[in-house]
Amino acid sequence: MKKLIIDVDTGVDDAMALLHCIGQSKAGTEVLAITCVNGNVGLDRVLRNTLRTLQYADKSNIPVYRGAVKPLIPWKTEGATHFHGNDGLGDAKWDTPDDISLIQSEHAVHALIRLVKEHPGEITLVTLAPLTNIALALQLDETFSSNLKEVMIMGGNIEGKGNVSLSAEFNFHVDPEAAAIVLQDLKCPVTMVTWETCIHSTISEEDYEKLLLIQTPRAEFFRKISDNRQHLISSKKKLNPGFRSCDWFAAMVLFDESLCLEYISAHASVELQGRFTRGQMVVDWLGRWSDMPNVKIAMRLDRARLLTTMRDFLSQE
Ligand code: BDR
Ligand code: CA
Repeated sequence: MKKLIIDVDTGVDDAMALLHCIGQSKAGTEVLAITCVNGNVGLDRVLRNTLRTLQYADKSNIPVYRGAVKPLIPWKTEGATHFHGNDGLGDAKWDTPDDISLIQSEHAVHALIRLVKEHPGEITLVTLAPLTNIALALQLDETFSSNLKEVMIMGGNIEGKGNVSLSAEFNFHVDPEAAAIVLQDLKCPVTMVTWETCIHSTISEEDYEKLLLIQTPRAEFFRKISDNRQHLISSKKKLNPGFRSCDWFAAMVLFDESLCLEYISAHASVELQGRFTRGQMVVDWLGRWSDMPNVKIAMRLDRARLLTTMRDFLSQE
């Protein structure tokens, strides 16, 4: 039984993660709110993509909140449209318009603070985006962290192999200060699925293509929003080979921690100044600075079981 708040910058993998979390309702999972933040695309598009995903899942009753429009200290403006499509959701064509009247009037950061106060010790916060909203909640309310049950973060890296700069992962790179505040101030159990965790869990193109052949409405949605990726591959643009869906992987691990073969607890922080390394997560592997771990890092995922989990999920009507 989990009560979730999911913080997203809905691109393709956020959408699949949202569906995965929502799909666990039979197991007693309740999604209390989805908070949106600038990231893969601008905030307005993130909101529309989130509503679109909920509409597809017939869950438009889950409240969606408008969060931060820019990082705490804006420094890079590009999102990730090269990967997620110009609209962030694969540039797919939809039959129905977005209903933006469904967006809540309360600000996402206020909603985070309110909901965590209303459910002390009960909420699992899932962050799949730059951490601006979460850092602001921590800055505004000193009880926010201690009232959370746990946090799952998709972001950061452990080997300094960046996906957006030479050494930094996208979510941390967009708002390094927010990531630093979050790692420093969260006092509840924090699990992380990092960029390299995902790289080491890459699914082969052949297996990915088999996922695209599944004939269910869920798989059809996945196929539709994955279209931009197919263009990237056919245009032979630089793309790490194989398929990985970072936010979806994190959601899968949240519901089945045995999907991870090795966890390491350590103290992690974020480089804020490096000329080449700003936004890179730095891990104190040997406990030189601190023997107080602040995160549990998922090091290696079970690729075969991840694939089975994705296949099973897409096969369900
Ligand atoms: C992260 O960056 C974004 O593009 C994805 O949605 C994911 O949250 C992976 O580095
Ligand atoms: Ca994301």
